[in-house]
Amino acid sequence: MTTSNYPATFISQIDDLVALAPVIPVLKIEHLEDAVPLAQALVDGGLPVLEITLRSDAALDAIRAIAEHVPEARVGAGTVTNTANLQAAIDAGSEFVFTPGATPALLAGAIAANIPMVPGIQTVSEMMTAMDFGYRRFKFFPAAAAGGTAILKSIAGPFPEVRFCPTGGIRPGNANDYLSLGNVMCVGGTWLTPDELIAAKDWDAIRELARSASNLRG
Ligand code: 3PG
Repeated sequence: MTTSNYPATFISQIDDLVALAPVIPVLKIEHLEDAVPLAQALVDGGLPVLEITLRSDAALDAIRAIAEHVPEARVGAGTVTNTANLQAAIDAGSEFVFTPGATPALLAGAIAANIPMVPGIQTVSEMMTAMDFGYRRFKFFPAAAAGGTAILKSIAGPFPEVRFCPTGGIRPGNANDYLSLGNVMCVGGTWLTPDELIAAKDWDAIRELARSASNLRG
């Protein structure tokens, strides 16, 4: 039997973060020099909460750079898959972390490390395991492939205290289908930062994508 000890204050902190914008950009930053202008463009477009995935060699330095140079950004780590990643993300200055899945090691690790975490879940049983630890805010991943809005609607009845950030397959055309659900607190996605716009350093275009996204659920 797991002791439920994920702090309720962390649930409030997540709620405060997601109240800042309906969309959390999911970023893969390959070149450190892109980190600050990319983050600034997203913040200027109205999306201050950023998930920097640990999928590139530059990711941890990118988190450090954004935390230092873009004070309006609220920067966290994503694709955190084990406790070594978790500690590295914290050491780099992450304010929160997102994970694609919910291993017991990570569920306990974030509590031990004292950092708000949004664990990724795909099934009710995974979610219930995390709920035993005290978690109530989840990334629903991969959202579209795992059942999309239909499964989220079905989960709402038995679990009214749970809220989700669906990610994976969310685009401008379907984002509002998710955001209109009462148990969806925000959505995440990579569509705001297309590789070709980053390669072209077209920060103006990324700012405009962010601006459109910031008006979703308007
Ligand atoms: C993630 O990293 O959370 C997802 O891979 C993002 O999925 P998307 O590319 O479909 O937005």
